[in-house]
Parts: sequence; C-alpha cells; structure tokens
Amino acid sequence: MANILVTGGAGFIGSNFVHYLVNHTDHHVTVLDALTYAGNLASLADLPENRVTFVKGNITDAPLVDELFSRTDSVVHYAAESHNDNSLHDPRPFLDTNIVGTFTLLEAARKHDTRLHHISTDEVYGDLELDDPERFTESTPYNPSSPYSSTKAGSDLLVRAWVRSFGVRATLSNCSNNYGPYQHVEKFIPRQITNVIRGIQPKLYGAGENVRDWIHADDHSSAVLTILDKGVLGETYLIGADGERNNKDVIELILGLMGQPTDAYEHVTDRAGHDLRYAIDFTKLRTELGWTPAYGDFEAGLAATIQWYRDNEAWWAPAKDGVEAFYATKGQ
Ligand code: NAD
Ligand code: DAU
Repeated sequence: MANILVTGGAGFIGSNFVHYLVNHTDHHVTVLDALTYAGNLASLADLPENRVTFVKGNITDAPLVDELFSRTDSVVHYAAESHNDNSLHDPRPFLDTNIVGTFTLLEAARKHDTRLHHISTDEVYGDLELDDPERFTESTPYNPSSPYSSTKAGSDLLVRAWVRSFGVRATLSNCSNNYGPYQHVEKFIPRQITNVIRGIQPKLYGAGENVRDWIHADDHSSAVLTILDKGVLGETYLIGADGERNNKDVIELILGLMGQPTDAYEHVTDRAGHDLRYAIDFTKLRTELGWTPAYGDFEAGLAATIQWYRDNEAWWAPAKDGVEAFYATKGQ
C-alpha cells in the first residue's frame, strides 16, 4: 500500500484514474485539485472516504505542494488547463498552470526525492498529413501548434531537464484523445451527445476531416499505472489504442447510436490552427512494459459513454448552457 498524490484528480482523466486506483489497487489516494471550471467533486462522490482524501488547492501554491509531497510516495500529475479552444481565447491560465504549476511540482519532487509521473499529450508533436504512413513515436520532434499544446510541450521539457540536471525520479507519457465518463461538455464527444439529448444540432468544425486517435480513459489509466510500476526513470512512453477516426465519422456514429438521422448536424466555423491528424505508435509501451489496451471496440465504448451521459444529466447540466453560449460567440 502506497500514498499516491493525484493532481487534477477532479477532472476528466484524473477522476477516472482515481476510480481505477481505488478499484484495482490498495493504494491511498490524495487528490490535489483547484476545482477550476473543469473540476467537479461529483466525479469522486461515490468513492470510499477511507481510500480518497480531497485537498482543494492550486499546484502553483509552493508551500501547499511542499507539504503534500513531504507525505506522499509518488505523484501522478494530471492538473492542467486542457482545452485548445479556451487557449485560443485566453492563453494566460495555460502558462500559469501548465508551466509554472509543473515547475512547482518539480521543485517539490527534487526536494523530497518523490517519484513523479507527468501526464502529457500527443499534441506536443504537432500534426500529421492524412496519408502519412508514419505515426508519432517517442523520437518524433516536438512541433506544437496551439497555446495549449505549446505549454504542455514546455512542461514536458521542464520534466526532462529536472531529470537530467537534478536527478528527479520522473517518467512521462503522451496520450492520444480520451473518451469516457466524466468528460467536460466543452469537449467534442460529450458536447455532441449532450447536444442531441438537449435537441441542439451537433456541431462539426469545418469539413470534419480531422483525425483523432481515440482511447478509452480506463485504458489510459491502466497504461499510467503500468508506467508508474514498471517504467524506466527518465523515459517517455506514448499511449494509444489504434483508434484513428475522423470527426465526421464520429459525429455520424453518435447520431446513429442515439437514434437520429446521421446527417442531422451542422458545419460550423473551424478552429484556428486546427491540427489535422494525430496518430500514436505505442510499440515501446507494448514491447518494453507489456501493456495492451482492453477496449478494442470503439463503437461499444461510445455507446456506453452515451448511456453514461443519459444517466448522469445532473452531473453535466450545470455547465451546458455556459459552454454553448461561449461557443456561440465564436460561431461554433
Ligand atoms: P480536465 O480539464 O478535464 O481536468 C483538469 C483538472 O485539473 C480539473 O479538475 C481542474 O480543476 C484541475 N486544475 C486545473 N488547473 C489547476 C491548478 N492550477 N491547480 C490544481 N488543479 C488544477 O483535463 P483532462 O482532459 O482530464 O486532462 C488531464 C491531463 O491529461 C492534462 O494534463 C492533459 O494535458 C492530459 N491529456 C488529456 C487528454 C484528453 O484527451 N483529454 C489526452 C492526453 C493527455
Ligand atoms: O490529443 C490529445 C488531446 O485531445 C488532449 O491533449 C486535449 O487536452 C484534449 O482536449 C483533446 O484535444 P482536441 O482538441 O483534439 O479535443 P476536442 O475534444 O476539443 O476536439 C476533438 C476534435 O473535434 C478536434 O478536431 C476539434 C473537433 N471539434 C471539437 C468540438 C468541441 C468539433 O468538430 N466540434 C466541436 O464542437
């Protein structure tokens, strides 16, 4: 049994990871989360109090971070500003949390010699052409496009520098697009599901040819736990599940699964600087650490996710109107 600190554990992927730890290990989990607009305590509500402790606080708060690191065995760092569209509107919080926040954790890890796993994104590699036979690997050069992805790239480089210069015991992972329960309604899949439930037309940016490489959040969690247990310090691991789909196909699949005509959506203003395609080659994680994804069937995983949003309207409804009002100001 170990004490694990999870930053951003009230967010989408962090809360799925906390559920995963409670269900698959005997570790005690402390969640550090600022409860920004993206954090939701309801995502942790059904977890046993003797397994999970919640601390409301900011990862840039050095004294608080120092105190928490002094009594934890390892840290998994999910906290971030995570939404590309928001980063185009107001980049500043992305620099504060993703860069300064990660720096604050690294200084505490250095002081207390704490094992740290840093969660990052495939977006640090930029994008691929639709017909490019190559996929991202751990040696693909960094080439981020958005304020969000550039701050995530910066955070990755800080972690690598603290490993090399100060011997911080850290690993990194860069994962592709997650789907599953507890995802904020600003994001593509929950936005379209909740639009259909509300009788609003789903919204496809541009022509919808952009490809994302979908992975279930539980597969992301199992990969992170594998790296935490068996990963080589200083190493980076790409996480994916061979889930490439273009946005048009995904929106049509959602409509079909929800009993709607598959053309009942509208094309809206495209995202500025919109990355065309992400695709992950996770050979290193598979061959060196023996990890494989469990969710092979995207359609089944999507159907279960749709059912989760149907069953949990109280979880997402408070955010829905504000998100749609924000998108409407941008013609999206
Ligand atoms: P999210 O926006 O749903 O959750 C982020 C969480 O971090 C929220 O609970 C929020 O309150 C918290 N937070 C934000 N700023 C904070 C601060 N300064 N101090 C403390 N807590 C703070 O994000 P997500 O989609 O769950 O992403 C989690 C991590 O995974 C991020 O690092 C992201 O870059 C990475 N990632 C996400 C995806 C994806 O598909 N969503 C894919 C790969 C990697
Ligand atoms: O690749 C990993 C990344 O995946 C993570 O690092 C990010 O934190 C996460 O938000 C996600 O980034 P994307 O920008 O790919 O996700 P998003 O859900 O915002 O959009 C997915 C695709 O759908 C993208 O091509 C834009 C498009 N889109 C999005 C919305 C919100 C639409 O067509 N319509 C929409 O309404």
